[in-house]
Amino acid sequence: MNPNKALWEKGDFTRIAATMRESGEALVDTFGITKSHKVLDLGCGDGTTAIPAAKRGADVLGVDIASNLVAAGNNRAKEHALTNCRFQEGDASNMQGVEDHAFDLSVSIFGAMFAPKPFDVAKEMVRVTRPGGRIIMGNWIPNDPTLVAQILKISSAFTPPPPEGFVSPMTWGVESSVTERFVAAGVPAGNISFARDTFTFDSPDSPEELVGLFKNYYGPTMNAFEAAEKNGRAGELQDHLEDLFKTQNRNSRKDRTTIPATFLRVSVAV
Ligand SMILES: C[S@@+](CC[C@H](N)C(=O)[O-])C[C@H]1O[C@@H](n2cnc3c(N)ncnc32)[C@H](O)[C@@H]1O
Repeated sequence: MNPNKALWEKGDFTRIAATMRESGEALVDTFGITKSHKVLDLGCGDGTTAIPAAKRGADVLGVDIASNLVAAGNNRAKEHALTNCRFQEGDASNMQGVEDHAFDLSVSIFGAMFAPKPFDVAKEMVRVTRPGGRIIMGNWIPNDPTLVAQILKISSAFTPPPPEGFVSPMTWGVESSVTERFVAAGVPAGNISFARDTFTFDSPDSPEELVGLFKNYYGPTMNAFEAAEKNGRAGELQDHLEDLFKTQNRNSRKDRTTIPATFLRVSVAV
């Protein structure tokens, strides 16, 4: 089994994605989507980006490596009566069957960054985007003090070291690495731009309950707990995460959670 696929099928990212809908809608509003656009959402999960893009009239394809999330995306498209939005299984490192230059806009929000072989990912995103089209990525930033970078940092401290040659997904949050990858895919460096942006996780659950969701449904945190349990360190991991979620919570009610997280927004003119 492909370990990248296994990681995301292990949990159920829909449980986390439920806290991301409002920011997903707001982010899509900044894309300038029109009815004439063909949009790819790569590493789409259950469609936090794809569904709002389709609601704005674009013809949308969501591609994700996890079959459970593809099914969840197709169910959500049906629930929203969106006939212009479909989801299919695929790997960002090799989008076999997806035609060259098929999209006006290829988007990947916290998605393709988790695929192995980052140079292949950049090449594939450029290949499927039409000349004159755009690529937009949202990537978490290594060592950033906000939520997701810290969850991944804490989780990795409890997980066995990755195999040799593994490239951290967080390198997609480093401007020089991103530039190198898209330049290798044939894009002039001047066509690549960067901005810091904020994505807010909003949940009716308390910070402690939200940690529980990550523990039970978010692949990287599930793996960290599994490894920590073997070493008798699960309590320590739980405490680190609860501290993090509580100190980052901006909701005035302690039984609800609102946590802003900073990400790197990458825009590429193809
Ligand atoms: C953190 S989730 C984000 C999902 C979605 N973009 C969102 O914002 O809700 C990461 C997603 O990337 C997908 N993914 C990971 N590796 C992938 C790969 N090689 N190809 C396609 N999708 C991948 C996972 O299955 C998961 O749905």
